[in-house]
Amino acid sequence: RNQQMLDLMALGPVIPVLVIEEADQAVPLAQALVAGGLRVLEVTLRTPVALECIARIAADVPDAIVGAGTVNRPIDADAARQSGAKFLVSPGSTAALLDEMDKTHLPYLAGAVTASEVLGLLERGLTALKFFPAEPAGGINYLKALAGPLPEIRFCPTGGIDLAKAKQYLALPNVPCVGGSWVVPKEALAAGDYARIETLAREAASLTP
Ligand code: 3PG
Repeated sequence: RNQQMLDLMALGPVIPVLVIEEADQAVPLAQALVAGGLRVLEVTLRTPVALECIARIAADVPDAIVGAGTVNRPIDADAARQSGAKFLVSPGSTAALLDEMDKTHLPYLAGAVTASEVLGLLERGLTALKFFPAEPAGGINYLKALAGPLPEIRFCPTGGIDLAKAKQYLALPNVPCVGGSWVVPKEALAAGDYARIETLAREAASLTP
């Protein structure tokens, strides 16, 4: 499953981090992102309709690969799987959360920042990790430093990244993709401006890892 997560990370340079307030926005949003070239989508479990959004995208947008983000509580993992999530993302890692994510048999990105956290995940066979919160935690220089002793780890940095920073992260050997919410500005989604979202997705998709 770690390999499946590495394969998902290789599908595109950017995983958009989605906060969807209305279930009816889910399908047009996913369609706009896919049309722009981003197929791997993270719907965060931060709104009451998040699981419903995952189910709708899984059912109605076949070219999207929808996962659940903000998987914070152990019980979130199986709820996301039941809704149709194809992968899971957690901002950090606890033993209980990792156990429940393992039980879903889905690939997942577990969050880590420090070398000790990375080593703990490596002991569980995980090399595909989320680096969160990327910018406040030390950003590009920090990830560059981790590549020395931990060259096998592949990070998806997330938190405070925009298009320009994404380009710099993607130049690192240990960063195959980045995550971020900049591709879907809150106002654009609220206004139903899917054309703008598609344009931002296309810009993001054209970055090279
Ligand atoms: C996340 O959930 O990974 C982050 O909140 C996304 O960070 P951003 O909104 O700064 O891109």
